[in-house]
Amino acid sequence: MSEVMSYAEHFAKIVEDQLARVEAMKNAHGAQDLASKETIVIGTIDGDGIGPIIMDACRQILEKLLEVELASGQVELRRIEGLTIENRIAKMETVPAEVLDQIRQCDLLLKGPTTTPGKGDGRPNLESANVTLRRELDLFANVRPVAIPEQGIDWIFYRENTEGEYALGSRGVDINDDISIDFKVTTTLGTTRLARAAFEYAKNNGNKNVSIVTKANIMKKTDGKFLSLCMDVAKDYPEIKVDDWYVDIMAANLINPLFNKNFNVVILPNLYGDIITDEAAQIQGGVGTAGSANIGDRYAMFEAIHGSAPRMVADGIAEYANPASLCRAAVMMLRHAAMTEPAEKLERALDAAAEALDMPGDGTGNTAADFTAFVLERL
Ligand code: IPM
Ligand code: MG
Repeated sequence: MSEVMSYAEHFAKIVEDQLARVEAMKNAHGAQDLASKETIVIGTIDGDGIGPIIMDACRQILEKLLEVELASGQVELRRIEGLTIENRIAKMETVPAEVLDQIRQCDLLLKGPTTTPGKGDGRPNLESANVTLRRELDLFANVRPVAIPEQGIDWIFYRENTEGEYALGSRGVDINDDISIDFKVTTTLGTTRLARAAFEYAKNNGNKNVSIVTKANIMKKTDGKFLSLCMDVAKDYPEIKVDDWYVDIMAANLINPLFNKNFNVVILPNLYGDIITDEAAQIQGGVGTAGSANIGDRYAMFEAIHGSAPRMVADGIAEYANPASLCRAAVMMLRHAAMTEPAEKLERALDAAAEALDMPGDGTGNTAADFTAFVLERL
C-alpha cells in the first residue's frame, strides 16, 4: 500500500508540473519579430557523431551564402560549444546550464544531431537534448517538408513537439519487475497553437488540404482531445478541405500511389509525427535528405531529421555523412528569417547536389567534403 501511495505522489507531482506548464503557456508572449532586429544571431551547435562533419559543411556554405549579411552585421553566426554527449555526461545535465544560457542569447539555432544514451548502453540515462531544448525553448511546432515533384508529392508535416509521449518520457515508473507505466499528455493550448500554425500555413500557401492523424480510437483521452481540437480550429478555415486518419493507415497510405498525392499539410501528435516523418523522408530518398524546423514564439531551431549516426563513426566512414539534411534545415531557417533570396539560391544548389552526387551513407560514393565543394561552387 505505501508503495502505491508513493506512485500516487509521483503522479500528483506530474499533474502539478503539467498544470504549471499550461499556466506558462497562457502567459507566453506572442511571436518575436525577426525583421525588427538589428542583428539576427544564429547559434550553430555541432552535436555528436557525424554532427561536427555536417555542421562544418553547412557553416562553410552559410559563410559564403551570407557573405554580405555577415559583413554588414545583419547576421551573426555564433558557434555554441559544449552540447556534446561527453560534456553532458560529465555535468550530468541534458543541456548544461551554461550552454542553455548561450543558446537563449541567440534568435535562431542550427543544430547538429545529438546522441541520446539508450537503455542498457552503459551510459547514464540522460534525457534527449532535443527533447529538453524543444521543451525549454517551447518550440511547439516541428515542421518537416517532404517533396517529390516528379511524383506529384508535396507534403508538409506539422508535428506537435512538446507534448504527447515526449512530455513525460523520462518520468515513467517501473512499478516492479512485472509492470512499467509511461504517461502521455495532450493540452488544449498545446494542440490548438500547433493546429493553428498548420492551418495558417495551409491558408497562406493556397488552401492546401489538411489531414489530421491520430489513433483516437485507442488513445481516447489524449488523441481524442487532439483530434477534436484540430477539428475545432478547422472551423475557422472553411475554405480548407480537412480529413482525419488513424496513424496506421496513414503509414500505409503514404506509400500508396493512389492516395499519397492527395496529402498536403499533415498534423500529428508528437510520437506519430516522429515515426511518420522518418517514413516520409525515406520515401523522398532517405532520412539524410529532409530538413526539420522546430518553431516557437521566441526561438526557432533547425536541424537534420536524422540522428548522430554512431554506427557510421564506429565503422570509420563518418566523412561520408551527407550534409544535405542539415543544409535543407538551413534553407528553412533562412526562409523563416525572411531571407528568401539566399534560401532559394541554396535550395537550387542542394537540388543540383542531390542530382549529381551519390551519397548512400555506406562508405561508398561522395564524401561530405565533395558535397561542400560542389555546393560552394554553385553559390
Ligand atoms: C527526431 C528525432 C528525435 C525525436 C530524437 C533524436 C529524440 O528522432 O527529431 O525526429 O524523437 O524527436
Ligand atoms: Mg525522429
